[in-house]
Amino acid sequence: MASVKISNLKKEYGPVQVLHSLDLEVADGDFVVLLGPSGCGKSTLLRMIAGLEPITAGDVFFDDRRVNDIHAKDRNIAMVFQNYALYAHMSVRKNMAFSMRLKKIDKKIIDEKVEWAASILGLEPYLDRLPKELSGGQRQRVAMGRAIVRDPDVFLFDEPLSNLDAKLRVQMRTEIKDLHQRLKTTTVYVTHDQIEAMTMADEVVIMRDGVIEQAGSPMDIYDNPGNLFVAQFIGSPGMNIVECQVSEANGKLCATKGDLQLPLPSNANVINGQTIYYGIRPEHLQATRQASLAASDSNDKSITGVVRVVEPTGPEIHIYSKLDNQDVCSISRDRVLWAPGEDIHFIPDVEHVHLFDGDTKLAI
Ligand SMILES: Nc1ncnc2c1ncn2[C@@H]1O[C@H](COP(=O)(O)OP(=O)(O)OP(=O)(O)O)[C@@H](O)[C@H]1O
Ligand SMILES: [Mg+2]
Repeated sequence: MASVKISNLKKEYGPVQVLHSLDLEVADGDFVVLLGPSGCGKSTLLRMIAGLEPITAGDVFFDDRRVNDIHAKDRNIAMVFQNYALYAHMSVRKNMAFSMRLKKIDKKIIDEKVEWAASILGLEPYLDRLPKELSGGQRQRVAMGRAIVRDPDVFLFDEPLSNLDAKLRVQMRTEIKDLHQRLKTTTVYVTHDQIEAMTMADEVVIMRDGVIEQAGSPMDIYDNPGNLFVAQFIGSPGMNIVECQVSEANGKLCATKGDLQLPLPSNANVINGQTIYYGIRPEHLQATRQASLAASDSNDKSITGVVRVVEPTGPEIHIYSKLDNQDVCSISRDRVLWAPGEDIHFIPDVEHVHLFDGDTKLAI
């Protein structure tokens, strides 16, 4: 196993700069997920770590070894791609054994390793089948098996689950996490699915337009997004964001937009007149039918909207409402029936409010 370090890494395709001076450290044994919207440079970065893409500037290290000039096949990595690229004419067993046979490893050891990988991945019943005789999830596991028998220093995954149906995707992400907990192989995993990133990663690295916006543990990023982009990208349903003005009402500062008055956290570092983005996650916006409950003291106005769409998910209900022309989502775990068109009042959990500067869009 190895740590991976990226230092001042740049990628240009002709005049187009795709990655801008990236720095990143993946500790030995960590599971790091690169997350970001389509086109932000995740695959490019992964392919540069793999040695499949020329480096414009900067360095890639595996432990202390600079690998810029080392060929992909000599980096001791294993990659799993979105299309599993199995050899169609080879059985599962032969697919998994292929890289070891190329290295002329002893047949007995190859057989042992294939059996070991098959048992870990639940593939024993399928060893003599061809890929076309397998389901998508089984094929995905064969691709994984082909990777783990190589005993790589680093696993590189590029959206390996995106071809699977929703249920299998959830199942496979648990399998991959379990596998990582057992093998502890350093892993860099690319996805644009924030739930996948949150659930699997030791550390999530959020990218946008070729820069790293924030890196941290899943819960830290969720609880403390450093800027507006990260706040909006992480979380489903997403954080409610209202562009507001800080103003004074009844002797205290609050955030206002039109007739809407939103309470500020007690320690908010804002000044009267400042433009801010007021963010609150749906689970921190309690919905109630009683306006009196929603006003936290006699001076406060209640925050009142109109229900637009109600989405029951089972454990909770997502209520989408219009609040002064603004779409907001609140999550309720109560079995309360809400109807489109009815009035709804909100109690924001004010200590969980996130504020972002109107100009820099950085967290305040
Ligand atoms: N060979 C190339 N020539 C020019 N531009 C390229 C080339 N390959 C990729 N790009 C550009 O580099 C940017 C990053 O691409 P990349 O494939 O790394 O994105 P991604 O984050 O993996 O996106 P996705 O989630 O859609 O897979 C994109 O804007 C893409 O158009
Ligand atoms: Mg990609």
